[in-house]
Amino acid sequence: MADNEHDCGEIFPPLESLQNGAYVQSMQQYQDMYKKSVQDPEEFWSDIAKTFYWKSKPTGKFFDFNFDTRKGPIYIKWLEGAKTNICYNVLDRLIENGCGDKIAFYWEGNNLGDEGKITFKDLKDKVCQFANVLKKLDIKKGDRVAIYMPMIIELTIAMLACARLGVVHSIVFAGYSSGSLSDRILDAKCCAVITSDGVWRGDKLLNLKQIVDSALEICVSKGLHVKNCIVVRHLSPSDEHIFYGEGDAEEPLAKRPSRRLKITLNKRDSWWHELMTDMSSECDPEWMDAEDPLFMLYTSGSTGKPKGVLHTTGGYMLYSATTFKYVFDYHPEDVFWCTADVGWITGHTYVCYGPLANGATGIIFEGVPTYPDAGRFWAIVDKYKVNKFYTAPTAIRALMKFGDSHVKKYSRKSLKILGTVGEPINPEAWLWYHRVVGEEHCSIIDTFWQTETGGHVITPLPGATPTKPGSATFPFFGIVPAILSEEGKELEGPGEGYLVFKQPWPGIMRTVYGDHERFETTYFKKFPGYYTTGDGARRDSDGYIWITGRIDDMVNVSGHLLSTAEIESALVEHKTVAEAAVVSHPHPIKGECTYCFVTLNQGENFTADLVTELKSKVRTKIGPFAQPDFIQNAPGLPKTRSGKIMRRILRKIAVADRDIGDITTLADESVVDVLFKLRPEDA
Ligand code: PRX
Repeated sequence: MADNEHDCGEIFPPLESLQNGAYVQSMQQYQDMYKKSVQDPEEFWSDIAKTFYWKSKPTGKFFDFNFDTRKGPIYIKWLEGAKTNICYNVLDRLIENGCGDKIAFYWEGNNLGDEGKITFKDLKDKVCQFANVLKKLDIKKGDRVAIYMPMIIELTIAMLACARLGVVHSIVFAGYSSGSLSDRILDAKCCAVITSDGVWRGDKLLNLKQIVDSALEICVSKGLHVKNCIVVRHLSPSDEHIFYGEGDAEEPLAKRPSRRLKITLNKRDSWWHELMTDMSSECDPEWMDAEDPLFMLYTSGSTGKPKGVLHTTGGYMLYSATTFKYVFDYHPEDVFWCTADVGWITGHTYVCYGPLANGATGIIFEGVPTYPDAGRFWAIVDKYKVNKFYTAPTAIRALMKFGDSHVKKYSRKSLKILGTVGEPINPEAWLWYHRVVGEEHCSIIDTFWQTETGGHVITPLPGATPTKPGSATFPFFGIVPAILSEEGKELEGPGEGYLVFKQPWPGIMRTVYGDHERFETTYFKKFPGYYTTGDGARRDSDGYIWITGRIDDMVNVSGHLLSTAEIESALVEHKTVAEAAVVSHPHPIKGECTYCFVTLNQGENFTADLVTELKSKVRTKIGPFAQPDFIQNAPGLPKTRSGKIMRRILRKIAVADRDIGDITTLADESVVDVLFKLRPEDA
């Protein structure tokens, strides 16, 4: 029965065609496995750990944690003392098991016809070669390396080479501005950056090297001299390098873009292909403690300063592999495609580590869903016979807008599972995905998780879970969710509140890099004893979980979290702006977008040119994807007598909703009327 406004009332039982042969074939089986996973996590996860290679066993407890700040510092440890290496486990181990000649990745370039592929064995060779390059540059275990690269095979080679040596990778999405990149390099004190000359995304050229150059200049001005910058020649004007890797001309692995970009190198820069020349393809892995850092990945923080979410080796390996296996019901003949950029956590876990750990064949796609036309996804699905496909609701909504014909032009008959991630999916988009893309013979898997969780935490399983459009359904193995009231009381039956987790799973983050106190404050302070997600959720009368969205000052734009504080600080950097307040506003494709109120300095005029300038200020400060949709003149902001901005009221003004409730706590009630009158015409 539909018991909330987003529930369209339909339930979709698992498809018989997917149940047969699935790892989990019924809700009963899911519940039995789930029970075991939460009642005896050690037994559950140690059975899984046995399928990986460990140099040595844990020296202490299999897992240990404290989620309660009242009892002491927060810590989470899985398999502490055990030694392993994730690169060895996702490459060497698979090759020993017979996957050597299997394709690890197909590469599909932005332009039609640019393509490549690499087997597990060749990937391992390249990874070892590049690990030897890092060694030669004296980059070693524990050092941090920033990776700012397009979606090319070298990106995964770079990350796996870091993992092989215990070098902590910090991948920054190659759409961030030089300012955002330098903030991240400085925070992690990176000793090297790996990038490429540039990339075409759709019909836009991004000059990545130039962005890195300015980022490194900013770093120098702040006292950090990054020693090395390694540049992949992806677009440069030299035919010798059209093919992937030096000396591989007889066996081309990738045809590069023909539209070129000439760049020059600085003293600290070296070409990737020159460093790789004559490097050995043998490189012993560094045996890492299960709790040694594997990577950090920055995510927006509500204070405006990004947080370096730190993941460790053993737990992340188990969790990325296990969620991939069960949630996509992975089988060896599958071709899996996750469209996310590796610069986000979805790409880390479900383009790289999770699929490789299972020996899966995946796809690295450099382009965008609408280039050269809105049929590109389905053309790629047909080209590589993709059967498990994973994308974001924002991409689905963007493609829906172009109509069904772009989908119908392609057969898509290989498809079996269609996943989504990143933001709540509205039932309309869910049903279009199911009916038009999947033609009702595919499972729709709405997976809820976060950079912090390392992998899926609330998700259906394709062979077992009856789904409801818009609900992420039930917890994955090992996950114990609760919904809390404002007072911190667990809701027993149906109801809405704060989504929290009661015990750790192997893939949960361990700290905020360099700031453990911030880790404790952000995730464990509001409700001691629980990990707080920052999301709201509702449980319906059938026990299904519905994510309702962020309940902090974050906005989820096209599946990317942005902090309103970060946008506000970019806006107030403009000389005309005295104060800014940013709130979330619904958007038909992006899900949410930002609506900014700006108070100008005395004597400044609010003009159309100023709006353009302010938008561009945010673009250049953070990145193009952060550009605000609406900017409104706000001669005054609604504030309490103690000076706190009442964002609840601003959110109402942004959507022209006059039902604003009690405003008697405002210092000056008249500002509300003024703000309603000044709403921009396009809002
Ligand atoms: O608000 C939730 C939303 O995305 C946030 C996490 O963002 P990020 O760390 O960038 O990771 C995105 C990819 C894992 C969450 O706090 N979110 C993610 N997946 C869903 C979702 N909201 C609703 N439904 C989802 N399936």
